Amino acid sequence: MGSLGMSRWLATVAVLSACGNDMRTTDEPTETPAYRDINELFDQGFARTCSLNNGVCHNSKSYPDLHTVTGLIGTIDQPCNSDTTDPVLIHDACESAADRLVIPSAGIDVRIVSATLAPSEQELDVRNLTQVTLVLDPAPTGLTVGATDTEVRRDATIFAVGEYGARVASVNGAEVVLDLRSAYGETSTRRFFDVRVQPPGPLRIHVGDPNGNGIQGARTTTMPLIAVGDPDGSYLMRRLVDDSFGELMPRQCRTWDDRANRALGCWIAGLRVDDDGAVINAFDPIDYAGCSIEVEGLGKCTTPE
Ligand code: HEM
Repeated sequence: MGSLGMSRWLATVAVLSACGNDMRTTDEPTETPAYRDINELFDQGFARTCSLNNGVCHNSKSYPDLHTVTGLIGTIDQPCNSDTTDPVLIHDACESAADRLVIPSAGIDVRIVSATLAPSEQELDVRNLTQVTLVLDPAPTGLTVGATDTEVRRDATIFAVGEYGARVASVNGAEVVLDLRSAYGETSTRRFFDVRVQPPGPLRIHVGDPNGNGIQGARTTTMPLIAVGDPDGSYLMRRLVDDSFGELMPRQCRTWDDRANRALGCWIAGLRVDDDGAVINAFDPIDYAGCSIEVEGLGKCTTPE
């Protein structure tokens, strides 16, 4: 993962006042930063680029909602690709942490990497699903066929029942088949395992590798849309300057340009939180002088249209 780079823009203006004469170093920037704070960047950059026609691109239509400055700030710490309907298109950086299969009688608590349904027909009524095959990490040891105290956990939340859970129908290394017909509340258990529904939302299974490329993204490169103080680790920023994260945004440049990318990166870099994790300075002036980000020429829109 490449870095957004170091400071070509670094404001190294040393203004020394000597007998009324200002002395400046020679590498002072030639341009005044375009946007003083996030409100200015929003009004002149985001609003005119992403939110035209009542926010047609990033309001109701495309995730995330960028049609107000509150919406933009609301993307802090929010997951990326959470509206993606084809799991294959989910970027590794946006894969959520895997739910865990827990079987207390066998002392098992392992990550669920993927899930495949049987019968596999896409159109099949959820009530007719009979089995789900889970690939687990690490492969469970000591698990035998017949256990029914199966449950799925996400942090402290328990899904897919416990004592009368889906029955372990077969075990083959990392692959475990659960029989959904035996589960107590079987329809809700089947719904929970229905990986055909994408995005899964909070009430269906979250597998660790939904795009199926063998990488559990949450264990390696996980990123929220905006990570406080970390433009490199912010998917929203990456989508503006790094096409390895998907088609570069914005789709149409309008007022967006290099300076907007830099302003956004410096704003993210300068964000701070209090002890409770709440952002405390979102509306402060953007700290260009203390910002070492270099994004010039990396974006799709170098100059405004
Ligand atoms: C500076 C302005 C913009 C920013 C910062 C931005 C940012 C983003 C981000 C971060 C995503 C991925 C969201 C996710 O899946 O987590 C995205 C997706 C998308 N954006 Fe934008 N966008 C901008 C402008 C636009 C404009 C002007 C359009 C349409 C004309 C547009 C259309 C879309 C569409 C259709 C998607 C969903 C498909 C995809 O992820 O490639 N965006 N945008």
